[in-house]
Amino acid sequence: MTHVLRERAERQFAAELAALADSDRLPRPPQWQLSPQAVVTYLIGGTLPNGVEITPKYIGNRRLMEIAVATLATDRALLLLGVPGTAKSWVSEHLAAAISGDSSLLVQGTAGTSEEALRYGWNYALLLAKGPSPEALVPSPMLNAMRNGRLARIEELTRIPADVQDTLITLLSEKTLPVPELGIDFQAVKGFNVIATANNRDKGVNDLSSALKRRFNTVILPVPDSLDEEMRIVRSRVDSLGKVLELPDLPPADEQIRRVVTIFRELRNGVTEDRKTQLKSPSGTLSTAEAISVMSNGWALASHFGDGTVTAGDIAAGLLGAVLKDPVQDRAPWQEYLETVVKERDGWKDLYRACRALD
Ligand SMILES: Nc1ncnc2c1ncn2[C@@H]1O[C@H](COP(=O)(O)OP(=O)(O)O)[C@@H](O)[C@H]1O
Ligand SMILES: [Mg+2]
Repeated sequence: MTHVLRERAERQFAAELAALADSDRLPRPPQWQLSPQAVVTYLIGGTLPNGVEITPKYIGNRRLMEIAVATLATDRALLLLGVPGTAKSWVSEHLAAAISGDSSLLVQGTAGTSEEALRYGWNYALLLAKGPSPEALVPSPMLNAMRNGRLARIEELTRIPADVQDTLITLLSEKTLPVPELGIDFQAVKGFNVIATANNRDKGVNDLSSALKRRFNTVILPVPDSLDEEMRIVRSRVDSLGKVLELPDLPPADEQIRRVVTIFRELRNGVTEDRKTQLKSPSGTLSTAEAISVMSNGWALASHFGDGTVTAGDIAAGLLGAVLKDPVQDRAPWQEYLETVVKERDGWKDLYRACRALD
């Protein structure tokens, strides 16, 4: 176990990646560390011919991962689109780790992202002392990816101002980055491509221009289909987060996971799982990612302050925090859900009491 709180994927899963590379006999696109098939196995999980287990990273439709990986082997970039918490950033990191062996070439998109973050900047001390020179140039992650034939990642592409987004159009179509100050062009090396993520809910913030959209293949990551699938995601992520944080082992908390995921799904969908009762949805996204944190908080509470099993009392606080995003507006739908669904459901009395106790 290392002391780093969050290892990059290529380090955390170095053993799996090495085992995949060892057994991989299929052709690899230029500069790829693995064949497209092996990259998908890394993402979806499986057992290698030599018995090595590859843990699943993405739990969901294999075909979506095949489309994403195949796109990166073409000259089009990949756009992962979806509501918050659908594993867009997670998949993007693992794709870069498996394909380039490096997930660190990352630009975080914000309203303040400048052209420099996508192109290059200058070391002003050197620039003043010596004038424009290659040594004074500070490359962006994008430029580094171009020069080394790697994947660059852009997080939250649609938050970047439209004129800055336009910088990407030439970069993606010409695969060239001119530096007029030095009279040179950097030309992308084979292996270079871009994975961007964007949030469905940001629509209209800075919608992608149609010119830029054409440079991307879009893969939509859906919210999990079924209760069971969503439970599997939460269980596997909570387990591995707990290991990294070295939380004391606890008996599996499947019953609590089932309840948290059920509540999230019902409120998100505006109807109970049995489809019999219509519900009002609160304003928050209630994503799988938030269900994961409610459960890890519950685990920490149970192991440090509880009796060693995750109880209703350990998940109630996290649950309320996730549901009551807007303390005024979200109160009514939550109260109604609590009184008409949670209170009446068989075996849920403890959870009802724990939630009421916090109100
Ligand atoms: N289908 C899934 N398979 C595996 N993990 C998932 C899935 N959906 C969500 N997660 C988990 O949810 C967490 C948040 O995902 P993230 O990539 O940050 O979401 P996004 O970027 O889409 O908002 C991650 O820890 C990820 O492991
Ligand atoms: Mg994200």
